[in-house]
Amino acid sequence: MDKFIVKGPCKIKGEISISGSKNAALPILASTILFEKEVTIKNLPRVKDIDTMINLLKSLGSIIRFSKNKKIVKITKKKKQSFFASYSLVRTMRAGILVLGALLTKHQKSIISLPGGCLIGARPVNYHLNALKKLGMKYDIKKGYIHASTKGKLNGTKIRFSKISVGATENTIIASCLANGITILRNCAIEPEIIDLINFLKSGGAKIKFIGKRTLKIEGIKSLESTSYSVMSDRIETGTFCVAACLTGGNLKINNFDPKIIKTELSLLKKIGAKIKVAKKQIYISGPKKIKNLTNLVTREYPNFPTDLQAQFMVLLCKASGKSSITESIFENRFMHVAELRRLGAEILIKKNKAFISGDTNFKAAELMSSDLRASVALVLAAIVATGSSTINRIYHLDRGYENIENKLRKVGVNIRRIN
Ligand code: EPZ
Repeated sequence: MDKFIVKGPCKIKGEISISGSKNAALPILASTILFEKEVTIKNLPRVKDIDTMINLLKSLGSIIRFSKNKKIVKITKKKKQSFFASYSLVRTMRAGILVLGALLTKHQKSIISLPGGCLIGARPVNYHLNALKKLGMKYDIKKGYIHASTKGKLNGTKIRFSKISVGATENTIIASCLANGITILRNCAIEPEIIDLINFLKSGGAKIKFIGKRTLKIEGIKSLESTSYSVMSDRIETGTFCVAACLTGGNLKINNFDPKIIKTELSLLKKIGAKIKVAKKQIYISGPKKIKNLTNLVTREYPNFPTDLQAQFMVLLCKASGKSSITESIFENRFMHVAELRRLGAEILIKKNKAFISGDTNFKAAELMSSDLRASVALVLAAIVATGSSTINRIYHLDRGYENIENKLRKVGVNIRRIN
């Protein structure tokens, strides 16, 4: 298993380009099942989860042709479609559940593995199943598989999500595109990745529009047209690099990312003392000499502070002067990085879903274990400012969602190398 060796401390400075967003590309790829004709998807990040989704689509009957740099795919379909999404694929990449809505609305049938939980939580899919049931899905669960079907096409209806869910919103939007009649979805998640999915589907002729802040109206159509679409840049990668610049008192020019998308995160970084200038698709950020603390940072649904940056901000607040706290309100177990940060010298107290962080930490290098995707990148950030040489094990977690991260970090001054 690959590991990283990181020698700290160092100052990050220079320029980076942000890759395509994994969490935008995954639902977009799943929804290509809806299309009869060829679809081209551009700006794909070269990360493990995308490979897994591509393999899942191939197993369902999609024909995939990659460009040389593997950032562009052209997708067409075999005559014979399969409806079986295996445990081996869905277990390693939970977003596989997003093909359920697409298979149902296109082929009226799907046998798909329940995704199962992961380290950050149980990750149930009840909101997905409840919403698809309202559209007409019949299902039962046998040996860990959802056996789903519909008599004829799905039927548009009014649905209100009892809790805001990114995946359930995506699955239901996809399913509603080819349903009979009109579907109204209330209490939708509105993450930028969902807007990207909507823009992609509309580029193929889907009839989707917001009729309220979190309310969508979707008019089912017969079929979607061939289209070509470029996936948005990754806001979590952007936030991660902004934190890296602040953490090391360095400065970064971040290219090809629309700063309007991360207004909340940028205002928080200004609060801790960062100097930030923005242009249309650029962010210039320089970290403060002294990092100010943040009392009671809370993770919430977009447009609030995102759970996917919680671990990264925790490392930053370990270096702040004074005490800070972070409340994780989205996932029930997303503090896996805390034990590892303590091994680097952090003083963090956990009470239920709240972390109390004493600042002014002098991180000292150590051997570390990655757990989930975002916790792993937080360990890399901490190792960058720790004194000495740290080893970070099981970096396959990182490879799931960060493209070429060691080369990008090396380019801006980090002493990092991968060993197999
Ligand atoms: C998406 O996961 C992202 N994954 C996650 O990013 C992200 O952390 C999360 O949204 C929140 O922003 C992808 O986009 C592939 P949810 P998702 O449905 O859709 C509970 C990363 O690091 N819930 O909004 O699974 C759920 O357990 C990943 O890139 C139910 O109870 O998130 C969680 O506590 C990690 N029942 C909360 O709701 C359901 O049916 C929010 O989950 C669905 C969700």
